[in-house]
Parts: sequence; C-alpha cells; structure tokens
Amino acid sequence: MQPDRYAADDDESPASGVPSSSDLTGGLIPAHVACVMDGNGRWAARRGLPRTEGHAAGEAALLDAVEGALELGIPWITMYAFSTENWRRPADEVRYLMGFNESLLARRRDELHEKGVRIRFAGRRDWRVPKRVLKRMDESIEMTAGNRRCTLTMAFNYGGRAEIVDAVRRLIADGVAPEKVDEKAIRSRLYYPDQPDPDLVIRTSGEHRISNFLLWQLAYSELVFDEVLWPDFRRSHLFAAVRDFQQRQRRYGGVT
Ligand code: IPE
Ligand code: IPE
Ligand code: MG
Repeated sequence: MQPDRYAADDDESPASGVPSSSDLTGGLIPAHVACVMDGNGRWAARRGLPRTEGHAAGEAALLDAVEGALELGIPWITMYAFSTENWRRPADEVRYLMGFNESLLARRRDELHEKGVRIRFAGRRDWRVPKRVLKRMDESIEMTAGNRRCTLTMAFNYGGRAEIVDAVRRLIADGVAPEKVDEKAIRSRLYYPDQPDPDLVIRTSGEHRISNFLLWQLAYSELVFDEVLWPDFRRSHLFAAVRDFQQRQRRYGGVT
C-alpha cells in the first residue's frame, strides 16, 4: 500500500485560517480531547471505493491527530473506534474493522510507545471481540503502561449506556446501599475513573450527534462539529477545534 495513497485532500483544511500550535499554547489547552472519528464510509463512497478503504484511510488521520495533540501538550485523548452498535453493520465490514484495529496496533504501537503515549481501551471485552484482537490490545497496554506524556484511550466495543450499566452492576456487586449511591460512587465505577471528563469533543463528517459516546462524561464538554470526513482529518482540524474551544465560555450552570 502506497503511503500517499490516502493523503488528505489539500482543500480539506479548516476554512478560516489554520492556527499553528504556537498560536494556541498561550491559551488554555484542553486536558482531554475526545473524537468521534466519523465519515470513513462516505469518504470511500465518494471515491467509488469500498467502505473498508475509508477505514484504512482513517489510520493516517488518527496518527496525525495524536501527533497534533502531543504538539499541543494535550495529556488525554479518547478516540471512538467501534461502538456497541457498530455490530449492526454487515459482517464483512465488522470483520474488517476487527482485523484492522488489530493490525493497526501491531503496526503503530512501537511508534506510539516511542512518543511516550500510553494506550488503553474503553469498552466491553465480550465474546464478539476476537481473541487475537484482545491479545493485541493487552500487549499494547502492557508495552505502553509506563508512559505518561499522553494517554490515548481507544473506545472499542464501547457504548456510553453500556458503561453506565457496567458501573451499576459493579455498584450492586459491591453491595452499595441505595443511600450511598451518589455521583462519586458511580463515577468511581466507570471504566477509567482517573481520567478527567473531556473538555472538548470533536465529531467529524457533519453529523450532529453523540452516538452513545461517553454519555456520563460529556455532561459539560464543549462540542465542535466539523464537516471534514475523518480520513481527511489532520492536526490542523484539531488546532482549529482547540481555537474554537479557547473562545468558549464555560459556565457549568453558574454565571460568569
Ligand atoms: C466511522 O466511519 C468509523 C466507524 C464507525 C467504525 P463510518 O464507517 O461511520 O463512515 P460513514 O459515517 O458511514 O461515512
Ligand atoms: C459513531 O459513528 C461510532 C464511531 C465513530 C466509532 P457511527 O457512524 O456509528 O454513528 P451513527 O450511526 O451515524 O450515529
Ligand atoms: Mg458513521
């Protein structure tokens, strides 16, 4: 596969002047950015390619987004790679996505490790996820566990509702009395209680919805919707989103 086969279209840069990382580092940098990587299928369809080619082309976007986050010093990134609802897709596409995620880890984990990225996964490890995928995930977690520059969480077989259900199951298993159930008790049973809530969520491909992503954690996140299809996403789109974020006023229900 030629590396430039999936090069992003130049005319897909953010419209209103792309900020550089140094334009942004004087302002507030979000501690946690989460992305709904959407639009792979449409990207492929526009080129007369099978949907799977769109997923393959999304790899370069993912890597460039991570590089951009490192450049800005963002310590937490979460990427939505496969939802609990994505099993509804045609079997061939699901099979492809499983294999693709496994091979992406195999190909990229050394590079991410060298950059100081800790890799984690949020989602259900259920019987539908092939063993070899779980094995590759575990190897990647283990290899990068000591890294602290940035934590990249791949939301894989992830659903926001499933995460809350799992937290409730743990509450019950822990024998927590009803009057002891509060936000702290629930939060501490989410997949990664150590992780701050996302400050900024970016969804590509012009869809304006959450699609079961981080339902608990998004309560006060700033949302940025970009028309760009995920395979064309580059750090310039991340920088543009961070610039938007820096212009927002967060009130958390209070007044400023
Ligand atoms: C996002 O792209 C990737 C996954 C959900 C796995 P899509 O595959 O949803 O692309 P569109 O939305 O059909 O264009
Ligand atoms: C959300 O995208 C899931 C991922 C990006 C992994 P979808 O393409 O599955 O969302 P819907 O179906 O358009 O809401
Ligand atoms: Mg989609």
